[in-house]
Amino acid sequence: MVEELRPWIPNLSDRVDAAMRAVPRHLFLPDVPLERAYGLDPVVTHRDADGVPISSASGTATVAGMLQQLDVRTGHRVLEIGAGTGYNAALLARLVGPSGSVTTIEYDEVVAAEAEEALSTLCGNVTVVHGDGMLGAPEGGLFDRIVVTAGAWDIPRAWWEQLADDGVLVVPLRILGLTRTVVFEQVGACLCSRSVAEDGFMPMRGAGAVHEQNIPLGVGPDLVIRIDDDRPTDASALHGALDHPVAVSWSGVSAPWGWTEHLDFWLAALDGFCRCLISREAVDAGRLTAPKELWGSMGVVEDGTLAYLTTRTRSGGDPELPKYEIGACGYGSQGTDLAGRLAERVRAWDREGGAHLGVKVEAYPIDAAPVPASEVLLAADKHDSRILVLAERS
Ligand SMILES: C[S@@+](CC[C@H](N)C(=O)[O-])C[C@H]1O[C@@H](n2cnc3c(N)ncnc32)[C@H](O)[C@@H]1O
Repeated sequence: MVEELRPWIPNLSDRVDAAMRAVPRHLFLPDVPLERAYGLDPVVTHRDADGVPISSASGTATVAGMLQQLDVRTGHRVLEIGAGTGYNAALLARLVGPSGSVTTIEYDEVVAAEAEEALSTLCGNVTVVHGDGMLGAPEGGLFDRIVVTAGAWDIPRAWWEQLADDGVLVVPLRILGLTRTVVFEQVGACLCSRSVAEDGFMPMRGAGAVHEQNIPLGVGPDLVIRIDDDRPTDASALHGALDHPVAVSWSGVSAPWGWTEHLDFWLAALDGFCRCLISREAVDAGRLTAPKELWGSMGVVEDGTLAYLTTRTRSGGDPELPKYEIGACGYGSQGTDLAGRLAERVRAWDREGGAHLGVKVEAYPIDAAPVPASEVLLAADKHDSRILVLAERS
């Protein structure tokens, strides 16, 4: 397993490598065949009554990558939110050694009990707590490291209070619907990102659960508009949008495989930003223009009109690295205008540096947050924290 995941984490440290070789993963996945227990894919372990996954062992490259970023040292006190199978807690226990400690919180009672049982045979320095990780572990003192293994919408007050001054927080954070695993380190009153990477996690449950709005349109439905949190949206105004013919606006901006890493954040700064999940059937039947990504093409809604990103192949160039031009297609009475504005935003991203642009994320306690400066790309106010995203030119 470790040999297979190494290409995905090229700079895997010897410490994380050794911990992953030492902890027997199959003990945390007792009903799973060995090939899957030692594979790279995530393994869903529990589902709710509707069949929706509620707990899993994360993919092993994700686990290794997070541990690498967390930079756990001997003797550290670590808090994990989302015990799941307990596998990651066992790795953490190994990394902190007997002089350190790990507290892991699990929301689901059954999952917590299973994690505790698996961990009890292997590790003496792990405490499993059944509870809501949004509250942290107030009796646990300060933690050198906090790692969250479920998708969070906010950085709650408890995590700010329980992180040591020079601590590191690793959290998959949802910012206007975009989930990024952010490695934060404390710099004065700010949690400043050391790295920002795209990855998927199951969302947090309990007090920190903030649901996304899903607005289905067309037969099937053909398209679902997904909007983060409770931003006011007139869903009924959108219902006739797909009856209009499509209006496409090309940006003139191309990228290998249409890969545009941080463009999403430039688009998320637009009012009415959303993701459009489009059914393959609707595309195959010619009812909708193919989106840039079927699983969630970035888009924007305004009154009764919507627009989302699309691509077309560009001829010539390196056949090994085909280029796709990015465009926008609009549906609704103002489709031409809205698609034009979305395409213009793609050009603006490209003019600023395009694929060479990185982002950094800053978080502040909401009651002590600075007013966003002009260079801030987007600001998202949560219940307890203000999140700022800034462009970083390499
Ligand atoms: C991807 S799994 C965690 C994987 C785990 N770290 C492992 O090594 O197997 C996410 C877990 O977070 C838990 N969870 C969700 N919301 C939570 C919350 N508010 N507090 C604590 N745990 C939570 C879920 O029940 C689920 O078990």
